[in-house]
Amino acid sequence: MTPRTAKKKSAKKKSVTKKTTKRRIATSTNNVKPKLYASLVVQLLSLLKGEHDFVANAANFSALLFNSLPNVNWAGFYFLKGEELVLGPFQGNPACVRIPLGKGVCGVAAQQVETIIVPNVHEFPGHIACDVASNSEIVVPLFDGERLLGVLDLDSPTIGRFDDQDAEGLNELVTVFVAHEEGLE
Ligand code: SME
Repeated sequence: MTPRTAKKKSAKKKSVTKKTTKRRIATSTNNVKPKLYASLVVQLLSLLKGEHDFVANAANFSALLFNSLPNVNWAGFYFLKGEELVLGPFQGNPACVRIPLGKGVCGVAAQQVETIIVPNVHEFPGHIACDVASNSEIVVPLFDGERLLGVLDLDSPTIGRFDDQDAEGLNELVTVFVAHEEGLE
């Protein structure tokens, strides 16, 4: 075997190794969000353990999200009171206190009782700007059975920050959260 052939062979081997590595990285990137949300479910359950005060638990839940999810500048709750949403526990800059049903991303998500992902808030008609740093948003409704309790709202300075994996993960977290509460009014 000439040194030249040997070189060729080792070059071939190298490229195979490279491809394998790339594939591994691609797979792990796809799993990053589901893994993060799975770990947040565990952490949330541990925060909720033995405590049934709704406001205290909502406060810790918002702190968990704000400090664990990357690129998030606001995370918190609006609770339904009559025909409007009223600010609940949150992390981030001070925010507007009352949002009528059907107004802003939160009001629309509450009225339509569905998760809304807004890749660019500046393109959402009627978006309520509480923090000038926010560029994208996700709003997840909270239910006690069929009854709408309010919404969980997350903002990000990054355009297109939230996707279906976030929607799935956050819906699972709010389900765990509400299921834990007793005697909701
Ligand atoms: N952007 C929201 C208002 C709440 S803040 O983002 C905290 C909305 O349009 O409903």
